[in-house]
Amino acid sequence: MQAAANLLKSAANVAVLTGAGVSAESGIPTFRSNGGYWQKHRFEDLATPQAFARDPKFVWTWYEERRRAIAEAKPNAGHLALTELEKAMPVFTLITQNVDGLHDLAGSKNIIKLHGDIWTVRCMNCGEERVDRSRLEDLPPRCHCGGMLRPGVVWFGEMLPHGALERATAAVRAADILIVAGTSAKVYPAAGLIPLAAKVIEINPEETPFSDEVTISLRGKSAEILPQLL
Ligand code: APR
Repeated sequence: MQAAANLLKSAANVAVLTGAGVSAESGIPTFRSNGGYWQKHRFEDLATPQAFARDPKFVWTWYEERRRAIAEAKPNAGHLALTELEKAMPVFTLITQNVDGLHDLAGSKNIIKLHGDIWTVRCMNCGEERVDRSRLEDLPPRCHCGGMLRPGVVWFGEMLPHGALERATAAVRAADILIVAGTSAKVYPAAGLIPLAAKVIEINPEETPFSDEVTISLRGKSAEILPQLL
């Protein structure tokens, strides 16, 4: 822990890559660890364009359940520590795989959302995209043009938002340190950012495929460890 804190103290440019584990202590399930979404559901049935084409109401029902749960959630000490780190660092970039918007709520500013945002909806017809935090009664919801709306998230097999990966790659390459928190580091291209970094501090209660390669791997929960690093 001390070694990691010392590394951070000497850094002027920090990038952070977060995953679902960072929101676990806010009561939001992860995908692959105990009780995770993909332990209960097949991602092929809920998080692919094919699933949406097959049954948009079924997919939207799940996303609306998640929206309602996230609406009740609060940023935890891990999210807040990253907001403080951003204020303290001359250069700071927060790259997240999370679609829950809790980093925004915690006050983080320079955020790259690799997998979109669950509070955004996009029309399949006119392409209009807008933020909609309302309770969606009629599913699938419709755009004012009559087109069907889809969740503004990235599904398996889809491209990341325009320019997001390029900006994330540039930020990681330029950073003195990359903090990797709360991700199983199994989903690409996000996980592909990790080997690009000069130095990596990993925070996860469990091992990941990169744990043997990173500079420092800290076993524990992000809401407990991140505040200690500051
Ligand atoms: N603090 C830190 N890490 C935690 C915590 C915690 N309190 N609780 C669990 N973790 C770790 C788990 O050990 C696991 O390694 O968080 C990781 C969560 O991994 P996943 O569930 O695979 O989530 P993530 O890596 O974000 O998934 C990547 O996959 O399903 C898609 O689009 C979805 O963005 C998501 C992507």
